Amino acid sequence: MLSTMNSSLPKTILLVDDDDHLRIMLQDYLRREGFSSREASNASGTMKILQQEKIDLAITDIKMPGKDGLELMQEVHKDYPQIPFIIMTGCAPEYSFEQIVDAGAADFITKPFPLRILQTKINRILYEKKIHQHLQKALIRFENLFEDFLGAIASTLEKRDPYTAGHQRRVGKLAEAIAQEMGVDEEKTNVLRLAAFVHDIGKISVPAEILVKPGKLTEIEMSIIKTHAQAGYDILKNIEFPWPIAEIVLQHHERLDGSGYPRGLVGEECLMEARILGVADAVEAMSSHRPYRPALPLSMALEEVSQKKDILYDANVVNACLRLFNNRLSIENVLS
Ligand SMILES: [Fe+2]
Repeated sequence: MLSTMNSSLPKTILLVDDDDHLRIMLQDYLRREGFSSREASNASGTMKILQQEKIDLAITDIKMPGKDGLELMQEVHKDYPQIPFIIMTGCAPEYSFEQIVDAGAADFITKPFPLRILQTKINRILYEKKIHQHLQKALIRFENLFEDFLGAIASTLEKRDPYTAGHQRRVGKLAEAIAQEMGVDEEKTNVLRLAAFVHDIGKISVPAEILVKPGKLTEIEMSIIKTHAQAGYDILKNIEFPWPIAEIVLQHHERLDGSGYPRGLVGEECLMEARILGVADAVEAMSSHRPYRPALPLSMALEEVSQKKDILYDANVVNACLRLFNNRLSIENVLS
């Protein structure tokens, strides 16, 4: 399979070495083997080439005047993290193998080397890069499909409960915005948004007449409503998500002081994502119309979570939410 690498469009290899003779010799060899190649003798020449054309792989000497090969590679990786590097080392005892790999090199080769060994390394690295790109594309396709699937589940639920139509999606966007304001990493933020899209899925097991009942709910009806967190978890728990979506859904009504449900978790026993979801859910729900009460002004919803900061709601989450709404008059302004 590796030998097929040269059969498609020629890959472009960038050679960086202050030794003109070696560079020319390597360039001749790579061209004979079907690669396209570019060459530079130092860091600034390298950056100019990168601005002009797409490079598939770079091979650089480690010891050069000015920036050394590792510094050059790290500078390149700031703007072009996808370019793999092979580092050529000669007599350079000051550089260890660990240092080269830790700096981000795909491989290294010690001078002098047989050219066929270099070619084997190039082919292997380009092949791995191709596989990695395929996996990345497949993962993005899977995540998009998964999001559509969760969206379909959410709309099914909302058919039974028109008063909360759009609620889960709006909570998802608000939770995402709060997480971004808090500096939560991208993957956790995406998972949180997905969990929020289906956080009330357990309401599918609550009779519709309770969901749409105008007026105050009785204690028994309220206890039936409260089963939706556990029911949602039970629906989602057997799907092998690589993320804790079922757990976040289970915990979205837990509160900091242990007064929430279903488990009465206290403080950080509750997942950070669920603490964010809890605030987003409360703010969105309070500022939306329900059969048993009209929508509250956004300012009142924010005042409510603010007053319950450190009691029911995580202070960091509430503060991020308040910052987000600073000078904005509606949830739409934040979500648009
Ligand atoms: Fe809920």
